[in-house]
Amino acid sequence: MPYGADIDGGSCRPLKHSLHPFPTLPGTSAGLSHSAAADSKWLKTWVKFPVDWEAARNYNNRSVIQVGDATMRAQALSGEAGGALEDIMSITPIGFEGSGRKITTAVLRELKLRHNPITCLTAYDYATARLVDESGIDMVLVGDSLAQTMLGYENTLSVTVDEMLHHVKAVHRGVKNALLIADMPYGSYQLDPKDALVNATRFVKEGGAEVVKIEGGEKRADLIRHLIDAEIPVAGHIGLTPQSLNVMGGYKVQGKDLGGIEQLMRDAVALDRAGVACLYLEGIPREVAAMITAEVTTPTIGIGAGPECDGQVLVFHDIVNLTFGTPAKFVRRYGDAAGLIRQAVQAFRADVRSHQYPADEESYHLPKDTKAALDTVLERKRAMRR
Ligand code: KIV
Repeated sequence: MPYGADIDGGSCRPLKHSLHPFPTLPGTSAGLSHSAAADSKWLKTWVKFPVDWEAARNYNNRSVIQVGDATMRAQALSGEAGGALEDIMSITPIGFEGSGRKITTAVLRELKLRHNPITCLTAYDYATARLVDESGIDMVLVGDSLAQTMLGYENTLSVTVDEMLHHVKAVHRGVKNALLIADMPYGSYQLDPKDALVNATRFVKEGGAEVVKIEGGEKRADLIRHLIDAEIPVAGHIGLTPQSLNVMGGYKVQGKDLGGIEQLMRDAVALDRAGVACLYLEGIPREVAAMITAEVTTPTIGIGAGPECDGQVLVFHDIVNLTFGTPAKFVRRYGDAAGLIRQAVQAFRADVRSHQYPADEESYHLPKDTKAALDTVLERKRAMRR
């Protein structure tokens, strides 16, 4: 029974693992129950006798490890399940905190497996990107939110590929270790897959992006595969997708009823199977984000999606109070850049108007001999005038 049937049937029993969308595992009778024993048995079978490739692919197009399953996770980390896992991802000991290690899409998966929370912030310019990167943030997102934060547009719909690229290039110059993700703006991937590929390629080639992000659920799965076929990693983004503003009829939390939950689960699983490098979950109830996070192998990065996500992202301007409005419920302010900037600007203005700036120590001076020669010339001129 697909998970949707449960929901449509009106059952309100706990959803976690009861709505498993995967088909019966090959070589087991586990069906949809997804028990740890069945999975690990299947994993071992697959590792030792990887004959049924089609079934393996159908079961899980993404990775052998079903992250929601503690037994398999433990096996993966201990190597108990066999060497095949090492072909899929590195599980060598790692020191992430402050190690200055380059973050890749493979590292994101390791972080998820290890339950190490992933950090992501937006950045739109060189200086901010450097500060964010040097602070050890794992992922830097050049979000199309720059339409509002940097360019003063009313929403994200008007920002263009060229405008986005201008910022992606600057951020790229400031980032060393973080994974660089660029948002594809509205209209750059919805029209046709060829256009989408041309635009995505520009973000990689010209902008230096390592991953491109597109909004939308299962309807984007084919496009995502198309981009990945062209060697472009893709981040998914579901839930409250700001580019769907007019269709959603406002910035509304998504997945608040059973139909909405079902759609989000479908979206998440479809994008996971398509192979997204990570999945942004925006503006959805905590309970739904937790279910998705347990269900998919790809790391989930939440914004207004509760603490159970594999990672968290916030808009840089939000955390430092540079957004001029009432912050959304999920925003936590960590600094007051607006206050700091206002104070600095007002102090500068006051100093200039009161002749306090610049002081002598803030001025350049002539070399001593040039000064002496100049004084002589000026004295002669004064004498001639007398
Ligand atoms: O544009 C953006 O900043 C985003 C994040 C909010 C996820 O997409």
